[in-house]
Amino acid sequence: MAGGYSIRKIELQDFHGVVSALNVLTTVGPITKEDFASTIKHWNACKIANDIPVYNPYVIVEDASGEVAATGNLIIEKKLIHGCAICGHIEDIAVSEKHQGKKLGKMLIEKLTEVGLQAGCYKIILDCDEKNVKFYEKCGYSRAGIEMQIRK
Ligand code: ACO
Repeated sequence: MAGGYSIRKIELQDFHGVVSALNVLTTVGPITKEDFASTIKHWNACKIANDIPVYNPYVIVEDASGEVAATGNLIIEKKLIHGCAICGHIEDIAVSEKHQGKKLGKMLIEKLTEVGLQAGCYKIILDCDEKNVKFYEKCGYSRAGIEMQIRK
């Protein structure tokens, strides 16, 4: 990858870096290294097929420092509609503050999109705040529908 950064799947060693990057998105809470490891184990165990994981968590790492600069996940959902088609969901995208504005967010979305399309997803969707619409448009996405939620 250009510009002194590499992109790869999340590994156990990324615990601190991933938690730190995610803090620009939302509250991660007091998760332990063991919580992180068991979540990665769960993610790795979930499969659509042998070569298609449900969870596709990625990091972008700065080559010189080994620091996690960005993280994001593509979740692949198996449906009944469209002949049991699969649909991708992009989730939890975060570029740590000091690495923002270097096109890493765009590279991450392009990678997750490529993973989803190669797996055979008929569409890839995501929810975002109004302030991020332009960013996702620059990544090739367009407005579709309205997000709704119920929270506790
Ligand atoms: N508004 C308008 N344009 C933007 C914005 C924005 N908020 N953010 C980036 N862009 C533009 C850039 O100017 C650039 O344009 P260019 O190609 O014409 O030069 C292009 O989008 C690509 O920008 P990147 O440098 O790749 O953006 P960055 O690496 O900073 O990542 C991101 C953007 C992911 C929104 C980052 O700022 C971030 O992590 N923010 C905090 C957490 C967050 O909001 N995450 C997204 C949650 S939505 C979800 O997870 C599905």
